This record gives sequence, structure tokens and C-alpha cells, in this order.
Amino acid sequence: MAKITTIFSLKNLFVLSVALNVSLILKVFYQSEKQVPVGVSTEEQKASLTADSGYQKEADVNQKTIQSLSTSSSSATISLAEIEDGGERIINLDHGDPTMYEKYWKQMGERTTIVIPGWQSMSYFSDVKNLCWFLEPEFGKQVVRLHKVVGNAETDGRHIVVGTGSSQLYLAALFALSPANASQPMSVVSAAPYYSSYPSMTDCLKSGLYKWAGDARSFNQDSPYIELVTSPNNPDGFVRHSMVNKTGGTLIHDLAYYWPQYTPISSPADNDLTLFTVSKTTGHAGTRIGWALVKDPQVARKMTKFIELNTIGVSKDSQLRAAKVLKVVADSCEKTRTSSSSEYNESFFQFSYRVMDQRWQQLREVVNSSSVFSLPDFPPDFCHYHGQVLEPRPAFAWLKCERELQDCESFLRGHKLLTRGGRHFGVEPKHVRISMLDRDDNFRLFLKRLSMVQP
Ligand SMILES: Cc1ncc(COP(=O)(O)O)c(C=O)c1O
Repeated sequence: MAKITTIFSLKNLFVLSVALNVSLILKVFYQSEKQVPVGVSTEEQKASLTADSGYQKEADVNQKTIQSLSTSSSSATISLAEIEDGGERIINLDHGDPTMYEKYWKQMGERTTIVIPGWQSMSYFSDVKNLCWFLEPEFGKQVVRLHKVVGNAETDGRHIVVGTGSSQLYLAALFALSPANASQPMSVVSAAPYYSSYPSMTDCLKSGLYKWAGDARSFNQDSPYIELVTSPNNPDGFVRHSMVNKTGGTLIHDLAYYWPQYTPISSPADNDLTLFTVSKTTGHAGTRIGWALVKDPQVARKMTKFIELNTIGVSKDSQLRAAKVLKVVADSCEKTRTSSSSEYNESFFQFSYRVMDQRWQQLREVVNSSSVFSLPDFPPDFCHYHGQVLEPRPAFAWLKCERELQDCESFLRGHKLLTRGGRHFGVEPKHVRISMLDRDDNFRLFLKRLSMVQP
């Protein structure tokens, strides 16, 4: 220290300290203004906001919200305890971007790396003998294997149709299940609260084949209909069954979240048409791969035709990547079950259930510490995958603003918390949907911010 003071006078040290503090303050200010990691452009932010909503309009609204929040100060009081982020950072848990899983895949290192030489995957065709001629055999194989390992869906006697996300397969299913020559478009319903993208996806092209007809609970027409059964449900996390129960109905089961990190696996799903997606299974939303398990070959053929007309198949590169990821997941499950000195410390689903469990416990603690909010309770059930009775740990928290607070989304926006309000899901705005799948640091900050919120 004596040496240092001979080189730097006290005056020098003081100037240096002021400079360091100013640069730190500028850095915090810059980050809170930008709200994105260095190197991410505004266009990339915009694209990230479309995830889960699927619609640019909604993304534009969010983008404007972010801009206005970044430039005007909120009326809400932010506590000094939030010094870590200055209380200024906008926490966006509006969309269901599954970035939580990056941590596991980083730990897996090179296990999921694939190399595709320039000459490979060039043809349009993957397997001309298969009804779904663009299905990569390795992807189909790993889908069947993973369902068997997890026990969440029957695959025997099913055709696998691969799609660019399960979003494309949803549209393919509507096309396949609606008669081509009916006098009226087929009604499409789902019990509210329903996944916010269903209405806009159904009606975006104003098809003459089908049209959105709203809440399945209030559907009282005698004409044929398609009912979407999402289980566990997005946004509220509850296990669901068909609600309409009339003749002339066809069901599409959207089981995006029927995996052991979100809900106990009670039995293998045995439906006519079931949709799954890697987006929510492993977190690889950007790979854009989903699959349908379809009993009726005519329906599978029509779905395949729809995808052929849309995109002439599905990216082989993405299918190969998804196959590799599913393979590592299935390996991790099998090897942690059979060997004590496994190369895997824990299976993918052990890791992801552990994280979800911890997050839900933390969230409940914060919510229960005041009377501002409430959360739904879920009955525990035996999970055949984990081999024990467990509580569901949904991918979204369906948070209710209590007392006189009517518009929960606006209320939380005042605290710089972006969530998706009940109206998007066909119900009143006292509820909001909050993603539980964001990165650790964002989730931590969200809990901290929520714990400061006063009515
Ligand atoms: C219930 C449900 N179905 C389908 C999707 C869309 O999945 P994908 O990314 O495969 O298009 C989502 C995405 O959030 C979802 O929540």
C-alpha cells in the first residue's frame, strides 16, 4: 500500500474512483435502456418477442411497450433493495421462450453437436416408402424411443408426421380434419382459458374450411366441430379432457407439456391425433420441429399433403439436430436408471423437474407472503416416469390479482413486469400468464421484483 501511494497520490486515487463509479452507472443505465445482450439487434429482439404468440402485431405492441417503458419512468415505486438492477430493468415473461434449458445443454457439452457435410441432406426426399415422405428415419426412431422411455404416448399403430413446429402441424390437422366440400366452415373450439395463438392461427387466412368458434364450454351448435384439448393446459397448467361431448366432434390433443418436468405422467396418451413439440420437450424452440402421432392414415396423408403444399417438407438439418437432442435425452433417462456410475449425473427430466420444482416453491413463497396475488393449486399424482407422487410444475404461472385490481397485466406493467393478460386467453383480465421457463437470472429478478409489489 505504501508503494502504491508513492505512485498514486490520494488525489489520483480519488479521480480514479470517481471515473470507475461514473462508468459503472453508465453501464447500468445503458443495459437497462437496451434490455438486450450486447450484439443483439432490435430486429432480433422483435423476432424473440414473436415466440409463443406467433403474431407480429402482438410483438409490435410488446415492442412499443418496451420502448415506452424504457423512455418514460414508471408510476410504480421501485424499492432500493433492487439496487442489483436499479429497479429499471424490464422483465419480460410474456412469451414462453424456454431459455431455462440452455444450462443443461451447456453441461452436455459436445454430446448434442452434429456435423452436416455440404453434400448431405440435399434431396427433398427423406423416405419415399413412408407416408410422410419427408420424415427423417432417425428422427422418427428417436421420437418412438423417447415416448417409450417416458411412457407418455402410445406410438404403436400411429403414423408420425413431422412439422415445422407443432404450430404448422396444428394448421395441417385443421386442413386434414375439415371436409373439403362442406357448406359451412367447421367450428374450432377450445375451453377457455385457451392457448392465446389458437384463435389467430385458426382465422389468419379466413379459411372457408374452418373457423374459430371460441370457448368449448359455451359451444351449443349441432354442426360438426373440432375441439382442441391442451393438456396440461397453456396458460393455467391443469390436466384437461374434452369438454364439448357432442356427436360430430373431432379432437386434436395438443400435448406440448405432457412431459415429466411439468406434470406427473399418469399413462401413455392414446388419442387419434396428438401434437408434440421439441420447443417445450427439450427447450429447442429455435429448431422449429414438432411431430404428430396420427391413427388414421387418411388424416396423416392429408396432413402430409398440407405440409407439402406449404413448405415441400420440413428442414432435414433441423430434424437431424432434433433427433440427436432426443437421443441424448433418452440416453440420459436410460443410463441414469440402469447404471449407478453413469456418465450422466441426472437425466434431462430429473434436471428440469428439479429446476421447475424449485422455481414453483420460490414463487409460491413470494405470492403467499402478501395478499396481492394468488396461484392455482394442483393435486399431486403418481408419476410413472419419476416413480413417485409429485405435484405438477407447469411451464406457466396463472397468477391472479386479488382484491380490487381488475387489470393484472397493466398493474404488473407499471412495475416493469411484462406478462400476458387473461383477455388473450378468452377470460377476464384479473389473471396473467407468466413464463416459468426463462433464464435463472431473469427469473430471480422477477421474484425479487414481485416481492416488492404493493397494490
Ligand atoms: C400449447 C402449445 N401448443 C403449441 C405451441 C407451439 O409450439 P411450436 O414451437 O412447436 O410451434 C405452443 C408454444 O408455446 C404451446 O404452448
